[in-house]
Amino acid sequence: MIVLSAVAFSASWVIAGEGLAQAMRERVAPLSGVIFDATAELPDQAPDWSAVEAAARGLAIEANRLLTHSSMPAVDDEWRSFSKDMAASAEQLARQAAGHDVDACVAESNRIYALCEGCHARYLRQP
Ligand code: HEC
Repeated sequence: MIVLSAVAFSASWVIAGEGLAQAMRERVAPLSGVIFDATAELPDQAPDWSAVEAAARGLAIEANRLLTHSSMPAVDDEWRSFSKDMAASAEQLARQAAGHDVDACVAESNRIYALCEGCHARYLRQP
C-alpha cells in the first residue's frame, strides 16, 4: 500500500460537486492507509504517533463528510451508521494514538477496516 503524507490532504476538505470515488481515492484511502500501515507494524515497530493521530483526525472529518455527501448512493440508516461509526472510530483512534496505546490502536484500526469493507459490500456497484 502506498503511504502518502497526511499533511498533503489538509488543504482541500470541501470540494463542491466532487465525486465520492474521488473523495475515497484522494483522502479516505490515503488517510486510512497511514493508519493501516502503522498498525500493521505494531507492536514491533513504533510508528510516528503524531502522523497516525493526524491521519485519524483527517479520516474522522472525511467520515463526517460522507454523511451528507452529494454523491452518496442512498440516504438511509445504514449509510449513516457506516459513516458515523467510521467517524467515531477514527476519533477514538486519534485519542489512542496520542496516548501511544498500541493494543487499542490495533483494535480500532481493525474496526475501521471492517467499516470500509462493510460499506463497500453494501453500496459498491458490481461491474
Ligand atoms: C459510508 C460508506 C463507505 C465507507 C465507510 C467507505 N467507503 Fe470507500 N467507497 C464507498 C462507495 C459508495 C464507493 C464507490 C464510489 C463510486 O464508484 O462512485 C467507494 C469507493 C472506494 C474506493 C474506489 C475509488 C475509485 O477510484 O473508484 C476506494 C479506494 C475506497 N472506497 C476506499 C475506502 C477505504 C480505505 C475506506 C475505509 C477507511 C472506505 N473506502 C470507507 C463507500 C464507503
